[in-house]
Amino acid sequence: MNHVFDVAILVGSLRKASITRKMAHALVERAPKSLRCKFVEIGDLPLYNEDLEAETPPAWQRFRDEMASVQAVIFLTPEYNRSIPGALKNAIDVGSRPMKSSVWPGKPAGILSVTPGKMGAFGANHALRQALVFLNVPAMQQPEAYIGGAAEMFDEAGKLTNDETSRHLTHYLLAFENWVFKLAGMTQDFESFLDLRKAAADAYSNGDGSPLDALVTTEGPATFFPPTGGMISGAQEVRDRYSRDASVFGSNSKNHLEILQSGASGGVGFWTGFQHFEGAIMGNEVKLKLRITELFRQINGEWKLVHRHADPAGDPK
Ligand code: FNR
Repeated sequence: MNHVFDVAILVGSLRKASITRKMAHALVERAPKSLRCKFVEIGDLPLYNEDLEAETPPAWQRFRDEMASVQAVIFLTPEYNRSIPGALKNAIDVGSRPMKSSVWPGKPAGILSVTPGKMGAFGANHALRQALVFLNVPAMQQPEAYIGGAAEMFDEAGKLTNDETSRHLTHYLLAFENWVFKLAGMTQDFESFLDLRKAAADAYSNGDGSPLDALVTTEGPATFFPPTGGMISGAQEVRDRYSRDASVFGSNSKNHLEILQSGASGGVGFWTGFQHFEGAIMGNEVKLKLRITELFRQINGEWKLVHRHADPAGDPK
């Protein structure tokens, strides 16, 4: 059984129909078991004024207590005038005082910026990072999440209907899970890691090789036996090949890793089974079934792909 971390979800918008809050709900619905998410509200916090510390406002105390009880935090913020909304900055300030009991230092953080606009609220995302540097909050660097065009992503019931964003949220959370485990000095158990591997395979078969790239070893021996035959060897060579191959896939593909056996011990993990794919490769619609074996090693506290063997499954004789 994997360790469970409590994660605060902070939403930078206060309005009822907030798109950012809808995105936060979509994120929480996709959270892995090891991340127990809870919304921590910021709308009732009086504006920070040091004079009020003489008799701490109850809402400040409530916020500080709730934040002290979690081991990680995910911010979802809209952008106001190329920065974060005042309400969110206020919450950050409230949590940072009294000076010696700041709730922030060392808490792994995730940042997702959300806007109906085109630029993904980049300004807010990075303004928030600036404050977190001073507060000594280790914010995850990759993957980033700048979600633009968000007003069109939900149906009437508030359900996320955009497949690409849905995949990104899943991948974001699994990478964040890995980040939280790493900072806690623990290695994610292999079974949970395989969810991250599956999310990377989904992204890969839709043309995005970067999630897989983050899981491939950058050092030591690495090999890939591709379905077309031959062998690629060496960490850099294998990564280059994976990233080149990703570009042949179109979007809206279906991908499924059918795991027949998996396990890990002594810093080595494996799975073996089939990979099913249905979608576009170089513009042609294809259906593929591959036989797969993948091997992973724990490197600096993270699972890394060191070998993949893929060949056509063919028809059983
Ligand atoms: C905005 N909005 C906005 N959007 C953006 O992408 N960049 C910006 O700098 C701003 N600036 C800004 C300032 C103020 C005061 C408001 C009220 C709004 C638009 C903003 O993205 C939009 O209102 C979102 O819907 C706000 O997020 P929620 O409340 O839907 O989560």
